[in-house]
Amino acid sequence: MPEGRGVFITATDTSCGKTLLGVLLARVFRERGLKVGVMKPVETGCLLEGGVPTPVDALRLMEASGFTAPLDVVNPYRFKEPLAPTVAAGLNGVRIEPEKIVACFESIQHLSDITIVEGAGGIAVPLCEGLTMGGLAKMLGLSTVVVVPQRLGCINHTVLTLRYAESLGLCVKGVVLNHLEKEEDESVPHNRRELERLGVKIIGELPHISGSTLPDEVYTIATFLI
Ligand SMILES: Nc1ncnc2c1ncn2[C@@H]1O[C@H](COP(=O)(O)OP(=O)(O)OP(=O)(O)O)[C@@H](O)[C@H]1O
Ligand SMILES: [Mg+2]
Repeated sequence: MPEGRGVFITATDTSCGKTLLGVLLARVFRERGLKVGVMKPVETGCLLEGGVPTPVDALRLMEASGFTAPLDVVNPYRFKEPLAPTVAAGLNGVRIEPEKIVACFESIQHLSDITIVEGAGGIAVPLCEGLTMGGLAKMLGLSTVVVVPQRLGCINHTVLTLRYAESLGLCVKGVVLNHLEKEEDESVPHNRRELERLGVKIIGELPHISGSTLPDEVYTIATFLI
């Protein structure tokens, strides 16, 4: 598949801020007059509403982007278990089919100027036999942005993630350091400089936010991704 206009949001772990970044980027792209498509190919840990798993990330991305394709296209696979995709799928007797994800993605791309795809968990999480999240990004022809929590341990996690991305031949636009924690540890003032010294391209830092704040930094991050 040719390189598409869009971005695959991955991370060094689960709960790093992928959805938050996706939502904020969708708002910025939309403000710029772009038709924004969104996709969350697999969502696990869905809350049950009336016994039906509800994919909160997919719905938040749709709301922020104003994208109105059917939910089953935006999010073809969803499971209630808060587990890795292959594990949750296995418990439900489902095999995740990359071809189905690609078909949904192509129809979304067709309707959009730019498509934001949110992975599940980190970059090396398996999606199905022989394919990881990073492999899916490659299959979709998307460049990636890596969300990294700004805290102790982020240097190791970032280097490992970027090495893995490189091994897949993925185009990584850069790293977003996310100030996830309200109470920051002693490493925070040093992490960016050390990562840059190691050759890591940091395209922005997402401040700790509350409510529906849209920090100025997201406008800068967006310029690297359009
Ligand atoms: N910069 C931030 N400021 C304040 N809260 C944040 C920030 N980044 C993330 N959070 C909060 O941390 C939690 C995890 O973020 P988010 O859901 O975006 O992570 P994720 O990587 O999408 O997780 P998952 O792997 O489950 O998809 C959310 O409650 C989110 O609101
Ligand atoms: Mg998410």
